Amino acid sequence: MAEVYRGRHPGLERDVAVKLIHPHLTDREGFLDRFRKEGVSLARLRHPNIVQVFDSGNQEGVYYLVMEYIDGQTLADRLGALHSHGEPYSQREAVGLSITLCGALEYAHRENVVHRDVKPGNVMFNSREQAILTDFGLVKMIGSTVNTISGTILGSPMYMSPEQGYGKPGDARSDIYSLGVMLFELLAGAPPFDGDTPLSIMMKHVNEPLPLARSINPLVPEALDAIITKATAKDPVGRYQYCGEFAAALQVSLSAIEVQETLAAMRGSTTAPGLVEASISLGLLPGVLTQILGPVGAIMDGSRIARAMGEDPQAFPTRRIPELLDRLATQYRITDSEKRTEIRRLVEGLI
Ligand SMILES: Nc1ncnc2c1ncn2[C@@H]1O[C@H](COP(=O)(O)OP(=O)(O)O)[C@@H](O)[C@H]1O
Ligand SMILES: [Mg+2]
Repeated sequence: MAEVYRGRHPGLERDVAVKLIHPHLTDREGFLDRFRKEGVSLARLRHPNIVQVFDSGNQEGVYYLVMEYIDGQTLADRLGALHSHGEPYSQREAVGLSITLCGALEYAHRENVVHRDVKPGNVMFNSREQAILTDFGLVKMIGSTVNTISGTILGSPMYMSPEQGYGKPGDARSDIYSLGVMLFELLAGAPPFDGDTPLSIMMKHVNEPLPLARSINPLVPEALDAIITKATAKDPVGRYQYCGEFAAALQVSLSAIEVQETLAAMRGSTTAPGLVEASISLGLLPGVLTQILGPVGAIMDGSRIARAMGEDPQAFPTRRIPELLDRLATQYRITDSEKRTEIRRLVEGLI
C-alpha cells in the first residue's frame, strides 16, 4: 500500500517516518476526499500506544503522511525471530500486549477511528519497549483492501475479518476480530489460516471456524481459547462489542496465568504461607486463592485455622482448610490494599 522512509524534520529537529502512498491507489475514486478527512482525524489521535501523525499532504501528486519515528522492531519482526529459534511467545506477554492494544483501540474507537488493519506488522516497539500501533485508518484512506468486483486483495488477508472479506468497511468489532487472530498467532506460534493465495486465506476467515490455539500449542489454557473464539466469531454480533470488554476478559485470564507461573516457580520449594503471600500480593480473587491452596492445604496446621474459625480442631480434617480459607477470603474480599494487608495478617497468624 505504501513505502516508508526515515526522514529528518529540520524544524522539529527530529527523525520522522514518511509514508508515501502508492500512486496507483491515489487514483482511486474519492481518494482525495478520504485522504483529507482521515488525515485530520488521525492527526487528532493522542495516545501513548498509537503512533503520532504530524502532517499529511501531497507534493507533485505524491501523497504522504509524516509520523513519529519509532526506533524499534515490529511485532512481525519479533515473531519471525522467535520462529527461527523455535521459541514460543510468553503467554503472559502475549496477553499483556493484547490488553495494551485493546486500550489503544478503545481510545481510537471512541474517537470514531477504526484501525482496519490490525496485524503484527503494524505493532512496533519503541526503545522503551512500549507497544505502538501504526497505520491507523490507512485502509479507509485507500478505500478498501478488497475489491469485490475484480477479486483483488491489498495487504495481508491473514488477519482480516469476514465482513472485510466481503468488501464491507467493517467497524470497531473488525479490529476486535483481527486482534483475536493476532493473539491466536502469539499463543499458537502461527496464524490460524494459511493458503496459497490471499483469496483462499480470506475464504477460510469467512467460512471456517478458527482452530483452537491449544490444538497447536497444548500449553495454551482453555480460558484463552474461549476468549479467542469469542473475539473471532464470524458474526460481529457474537464478538466482544467493545475493546474494554475484550480487555476485561483478558485481564481475568492474566491473573490465572500469573498463578500458574507463580506456582511453577515455587513448586517444591515453597510452603503454604509462601503461596498465600504470593496470591495476596497478586491481588487474586478469593476463588483463585482457594484453588491455589487446595493442593497444598494438607501441609498447613489445620487445628489453628479451625480454632480461629470457631470450629472444633479435633473434628476438623485438614482437607477442609481450603474451604475455610475461602470463607475467610470471601469475608475479607481482596479488593483494596488495606483489606489485603488485613487478610495477610490474618492468614499469617493462622498458619
Ligand atoms: N512510524 C514508523 N517508524 C519507524 N518505522 C516504521 C514506522 N512505520 C512503519 N515503519 C517500518 O516500515 C515497515 C513497512 O511498513 P508498512 O509499509 O506499513 O508495511 P507493513 O505494515 O505491512 O509492515 C514496517 O514494517 C516498519 O519496519
Ligand atoms: Mg504498516
